[in-house]
Amino acid sequence: MSSSVLLTRRGLLRLGGAAFAAATMPMPGISQPASEPMRLRAAPSRVYLSGGPKNSSAVWAYNGGVPGPEIRVRQGERIRVRAENGLAEGTTMHWHGIRTPNAMDGVPHLTQAPIPVGGEFLYEFDAVDAGTFWYHPHQRSSEQVGRGLYGPLIIEEHDPIRVDRDLTWMLDDWRMTEAGEISDDFGNRHDAAHNGRVGNTVTINGTLPDPVEVRRGERVRLRLINAANARIFALDFGDLEPVIVALDGQPVTPHAPGEGIVVIGPAMRIDLVVDMAGRTGSHTTLRDIAYQGLEYDLVDIRYDGTPLRKTVPDWSLELPANPLREPDLAAATRHEVVFNGGMMGQMMMGDEAGSMMQQMRNGAMWFINGKAADGHVMDPLISMPIGTSHIFVMDNRTAWHHPIHLHGHSFRVIARNGVPTRYREWQDTVLVAPEERVEIAFVADNAGDWMFHCHILEHQAAGMMAVVRVGDSTARHSEYH
Ligand code: C2O
Ligand code: CU
Repeated sequence: MSSSVLLTRRGLLRLGGAAFAAATMPMPGISQPASEPMRLRAAPSRVYLSGGPKNSSAVWAYNGGVPGPEIRVRQGERIRVRAENGLAEGTTMHWHGIRTPNAMDGVPHLTQAPIPVGGEFLYEFDAVDAGTFWYHPHQRSSEQVGRGLYGPLIIEEHDPIRVDRDLTWMLDDWRMTEAGEISDDFGNRHDAAHNGRVGNTVTINGTLPDPVEVRRGERVRLRLINAANARIFALDFGDLEPVIVALDGQPVTPHAPGEGIVVIGPAMRIDLVVDMAGRTGSHTTLRDIAYQGLEYDLVDIRYDGTPLRKTVPDWSLELPANPLREPDLAAATRHEVVFNGGMMGQMMMGDEAGSMMQQMRNGAMWFINGKAADGHVMDPLISMPIGTSHIFVMDNRTAWHHPIHLHGHSFRVIARNGVPTRYREWQDTVLVAPEERVEIAFVADNAGDWMFHCHILEHQAAGMMAVVRVGDSTARHSEYH
């Protein structure tokens, strides 16, 4: 990718550059030693997203704030959360990227009944993998996440890499009205058929970013989480040289991002190690160049205070591996997965063309192997015996990027357009470019019915979602297993 970036400007609102003056609010931490579950209440609230203290905006939030409280535990600990529903509609909580038991996955009607208005649900699971994760509802996600329901979930390694500071940035993108409220045009057909609900106001940890003050020589672990419904970020770090050490929570061979640009699609996480090598008194501006013609300054890094050290530390960047099972590529079953739909895509061809046209007349816009999902419950797209290895060959026959997410598992991205990937990175959400073919491989080792969907939430709502089944089907038909 050159500075040419990902997408053209079609369908996008212009961003006001000046609005991106810049705040990194420390997030309240809640650690979890006790046996009392942590309480997370989803309810309407008001927060200062964009307009400063005089201009709060109505949101839906966990415990009143955007993002919701940080959940931070040590690997191997148990996470217990009592979710309370203070919304005027049903909700659930999904633990994005965490390999939970199926019953804790928070998928409405598939793994649990939606938490009713005024109701609650106890989520409980072990933190098997260390890394950077997040939580959000899986019910009407486009609007529930889009109005502010999400928070960070950090699982610390027993033996973390050494850094001077561990920083989490939850990136979000809002469509704000001139009156400073969230535009309520959720679920409109134009967003759904194009690149989703891309907004006009980008926040870090729920607020317009203020300059970040660092000291010369400081080493920062920066955990990026993209909580936006649809916006892809392509961050240019200027004269800094970020090193990618983990993707979607999973360690990866430390490497510089391609062309120095950190690309992060919706729901993805990237852990960076950044050595702040500038001179005291200087600053570096981070720019988002994802959308051609719509580049903007995201945030300034300012060097302040006494330098911490003169040279870059030689501390290791290698995170300890998580307990993931290695897929057996020779024995793996290959499955073709074709994505169709949306505006400006290829002609739909083949046996399923007629059926897709019919489904479009009924409001569907996106298809996986010719089928658009209508809700979370459906016959499985693919069934996999427990413990077996699988390769999904994903063929994007659309004109748009799609961050494709699999629940309950992490997978290796093994090839793009037939070329083996360099790092065979583990991910749970992979950004697939227009016309691209991406192969992923994993061991189906977590029993249950799992969602497999695009994480552009408007695409998901317009059909780009399927269920894959791991293990025996007979258990699946009892009420929520
Ligand atoms: Cu982040 Cu199916 O979800
Ligand atoms: Cu999509």
